[in-house]
Amino acid sequence: MGDTPAVTYRAKTNYTEEKARGYADREARRNVPELKLVERAFQFIPRGRVLDVPCGGGRVTVLLGKLGYEMSAADYSEPMRQITRETTAANGLNVPVFKEDIENLSQADRSFDAIVCFRFFHHLPNEELRRKVVGELCRVARRHVAMSYFNPKTLRALEQKLRRLRGRKLSVFNTPLAEVTAYFEVNGFELARNFRLDAINNLHLAVFERVPD
Ligand SMILES: C[S@@+](CC[C@H](N)C(=O)[O-])C[C@H]1O[C@@H](n2cnc3c(N)ncnc32)[C@H](O)[C@@H]1O
Repeated sequence: MGDTPAVTYRAKTNYTEEKARGYADREARRNVPELKLVERAFQFIPRGRVLDVPCGGGRVTVLLGKLGYEMSAADYSEPMRQITRETTAANGLNVPVFKEDIENLSQADRSFDAIVCFRFFHHLPNEELRRKVVGELCRVARRHVAMSYFNPKTLRALEQKLRRLRGRKLSVFNTPLAEVTAYFEVNGFELARNFRLDAINNLHLAVFERVPD
């Protein structure tokens, strides 16, 4: 019997040059509420070395860099990394930008004070990948991980469920906070805070903190 082929997901292979430029060119006003959400969460995270993975076009990297965090940025897609290089430079920030597969980070244990992982987790199609990714984030973060996820107890998640029932294929996955928290707890982290974008949207951002050894 051969090995089981690795499960992949659209977000891993989708960010070609064209798609990457399209994502980065989203109207700035669509970014405002999402960046406010990140800013709210980081009010509880002290200044220090932060890894933004996946960084996409670098909007979170720029926000946190301007707030005084010492940023590094990583993504699987070279077109996305190139946009982050351009965006950070245009904002006067000197940020190392490197290739990473979030499923197997090349960084040493506890090598960043905090990690931010925004608008990624909801792309992961199964528990095995979710567990693996959270394990990597917890291994590399010394103290905090701020990770977004799609919360199923929201109107937007209900709407997605109805669209699925009508036969629509959606490649996003809603995960209960209890499930997300359980992935962190086995890695020695506890839930510190949970923020929602608004009353309807399923985008939530949870901050996890390492339980002292
Ligand atoms: C929706 S974007 C979000 C990016 C950014 N955090 C933001 O909020 O703008 C998703 C990103 O995940 C990256 N990605 C997908 N799979 C990845 C993987 N296995 N490792 C690292 N990056 C990955 C894609 O290249 C893309 O840039």
